[in-house]
Amino acid sequence: MKVLISEAQLSERIHALGAELTAHYAAVDEPLVLVGVLRGSFVFMADLARAMDCPLEVDFMSASSYGDGTVSSGDVKLKTDLQKPIEGRHVLVVEDIVDTGHTLAKLRSILEARQPASLRFVSLLDKPSRRENGEAADWIGFTIEDHFVVGYGLDEAGLNRNVPYVGVKTND
Ligand code: IMP
Ligand code: MG
Repeated sequence: MKVLISEAQLSERIHALGAELTAHYAAVDEPLVLVGVLRGSFVFMADLARAMDCPLEVDFMSASSYGDGTVSSGDVKLKTDLQKPIEGRHVLVVEDIVDTGHTLAKLRSILEARQPASLRFVSLLDKPSRRENGEAADWIGFTIEDHFVVGYGLDEAGLNRNVPYVGVKTND
């Protein structure tokens, strides 16, 4: 495994993002809802939530189009829904990576229909060269080239989520 983004780089960037998000949501006088998109965002969300100094709740959902492959089908399905309604709430969706953009588009349409007070997206990683629609997260940790990456929550066929850095598989 080759290190693409080290633990130190992740930590530094996530603390900066946490500060930026804290400042952004300072104007909101009620707890925001951090929505983690399972399973890839679980490590990022744990670190980001602790880097944010504002009242927040957490909830989770999951969507899937990949199965065990590495190519998005474009046919994204909601697999697990939130535990609580979000109508009138300020919602920040936490994603691991925006690749084709199909997952983000699907989540946006599902969540927007529930009429949150605000709906924004933060993604640890962005692969803009792979985009198949006009989607973009509001905040991005790192923009990367078109590599299939694993670690820090991201998997390949379910494995390597526990690798503490973002890495690219190599053949040696
Ligand atoms: P999209 O719908 O194509 O944008 O894909 C979003 C989802 O695909 C992400 O939330 C990941 O779960 C998965 N994904 C996309 N690229 C990678 C990658 O390089 N490594 C691991 N998972 C990925
Ligand atoms: Mg995902």
